[in-house]
Amino acid sequence: MERLDGVRVLLGVSGGIAAYKAGIVARLLVGAGASVDTVLTRGAERFVGTATFEGLTGRPVRTEVWEDIATQTHVGLGRSADVALIYPATAHVMAKLAGGLADDLLTTTLLAATCPLVLAPAMHTEMWQHAATRHNAEVLRQRGAHLVGPDDGVLMGGDSGPGRVVDPQVAVDAVVAALEDRAATPDGQVSGSFAGRTAGVDRDLEGTRVLVTAGGTREPIDPVRFLGNRSSGKMGFALAEVAASRGADVVLVAAPSTLPTPAGVQRVDVTTALEMYHAVFAHIDAMDVVVKAAAVADFRPSSTATSKLKKDAGAPSIELVPNPDILAELGARRDGGADRPILVGFAAETDDVEAAGLAKLKRKGADLLVVNDVSANDAGFEVDTNRAILLDRDGGRVEVPLSSKAEVAGVVLDAVVARLRA
Ligand code: PMT
Repeated sequence: MERLDGVRVLLGVSGGIAAYKAGIVARLLVGAGASVDTVLTRGAERFVGTATFEGLTGRPVRTEVWEDIATQTHVGLGRSADVALIYPATAHVMAKLAGGLADDLLTTTLLAATCPLVLAPAMHTEMWQHAATRHNAEVLRQRGAHLVGPDDGVLMGGDSGPGRVVDPQVAVDAVVAALEDRAATPDGQVSGSFAGRTAGVDRDLEGTRVLVTAGGTREPIDPVRFLGNRSSGKMGFALAEVAASRGADVVLVAAPSTLPTPAGVQRVDVTTALEMYHAVFAHIDAMDVVVKAAAVADFRPSSTATSKLKKDAGAPSIELVPNPDILAELGARRDGGADRPILVGFAAETDDVEAAGLAKLKRKGADLLVVNDVSANDAGFEVDTNRAILLDRDGGRVEVPLSSKAEVAGVVLDAVVARLRA
């Protein structure tokens, strides 16, 4: 069986000189067993012709959204694709995709497609490094697109630098990897040789029960006001999603968050720290791993007013009482020497970050502690990226550079798997 037997690939070719290499990509895809539908943009047609791709793929090549209106070519192509590869992807096409524009057959088709998307950017170095292109690339990445390249090398006109399209074989390998990723997700539907496959993504948490807490608790002052914090839930939701994609049975105890529940995850919504405490302890006996990414209020008002506090009554004095420390209690429960559940804490710090994290790791009796510096504007609360130091109670230390929260989650779960196996 070939690597891509029975897989339907949508090959989008946009208008850059690297379009000439797209013919080799088509040949490699077909050689690997794929059925390839090619869409050329008008710019691509200036560099290469439809006949090349019809000859290589044995299928009609499309260029126009205004042809065959009744058959809705874009919807049909988009829905039937198992994976889309844009090779080369120009700065212009990336900008249109990031903005959700649909003004030609390729972009309308991609808006109608729900399959994995692989982009092989190609452009001059200045264009690739332009803030707009960096932004568009990040938007597409965060939306789940796989960007492969560009390479650093010789460009059109004798220039040299980052912007050269990756080799055709590298792009085809990226297509295979994207299909493997999709096949490994609980709702991933892929046909051909990937149907039912879980290769590529490690299912190393198969059968492991993981509880994740996420978001910021809210402690009510009166019916309309609360004490809260900036946590959006992104870090915890990413952990839940990645753990589930690696085979874990995941319970996500979520403080208020607008994020959708990751596929295959059991979600328990809570509001206050006390509710989170009860939800965690209701599930704890069944858990192998607990990851506490939530930002939990350390204090709550000693009482909650039943009616809205009136401004005319003057500034209220709010007496605070401590909330239970959920992580510390979980750590204390294992004092007898039990090594389960594995406990992973987070620490949101602003000063002397690592020392404060180490102290917390010990004080709370966790196995692992993820310290993030929340004073940085690209890490910690609300943003899609994080930068962390992962501390192990046995003295291990891993620095995670600025990465997506899913990537940080991956590193944390690698450390969990190592402890599970130890
Ligand atoms: O949600 P995002 O916007 O993506 O932001 C992510 C994050 C910054 C919230 C996350 O990365 C993070 O750092 N979470 C922990 C925040 C925090 O409350 O840290 P802390 O240092 O106050 O608490 C240390 C640990 O004890 C945490 O695991 C916390 O869940 C736990 N804790 C704290 C207080 C309490 N009463 N009970 C607890 O279990």
